[in-house]
Amino acid sequence: MSTEQDGVFLRNFALVIAALVGVTIFLIVVANSLFGDENPERDALVQERAEQNLAPSYAVRLSGEPAPALASADEAPADDAGGVVEVRSGEQVTQAVCIACHQGNFLNAPGIGDVDGWNERIGKGWDTLVSNVANGYGNMPAQGGAASEEEIRAAIEWMIETETGLAIPEG
Ligand code: HEC
Repeated sequence: MSTEQDGVFLRNFALVIAALVGVTIFLIVVANSLFGDENPERDALVQERAEQNLAPSYAVRLSGEPAPALASADEAPADDAGGVVEVRSGEQVTQAVCIACHQGNFLNAPGIGDVDGWNERIGKGWDTLVSNVANGYGNMPAQGGAASEEEIRAAIEWMIETETGLAIPEG
């Protein structure tokens, strides 16, 4: 390869490099003009998000500050702050809780609407039946955690009285 050829090669090479640098600068200028706008709103949002992400997941409550409201089942009873505690109907409670055993005689549980099965038990009267369901009886584990006493009462009424036509004596 002669010196002259080297010179041509170097010139061409330098031209190509220069062209690539030019294209790069051109692209940077275009990108900046399209996306490089100063946007204070967006900056503020980015800042806020960053602060949220960096903030600890706990907070120290200074004395006197009210505690934040927690979404907890045992809080906010009905008379407090006008909250409403929903009482399910007997049929709803039965479908949600009792049906697991009282349909299909699971563990020998009397079935919903089973006249003979219930007839021999209802003589115990309302109070005993409700408390047996709430606290557990024989093969039936306590249901007090799954339904309030009012709901248990409604469920018994629906499952036995409504569905069999039997009447449970008071007491
Ligand atoms: C995990 C199964 C299960 C669930 C859930 C269940 N029961 Fe029972 N229940 C039984 C069994 C089993 C018996 C029969 C208990 C025995 O005599 O040993 C029974 C008996 C009863 C009795 C008769 C109690 C007595 O003193 O003879 C009533 C009333 C009753 N259940 C109502 C309910 C109601 C209302 C619910 C829903 C709130 C419910 N049960 C949920 C299994 C269950």
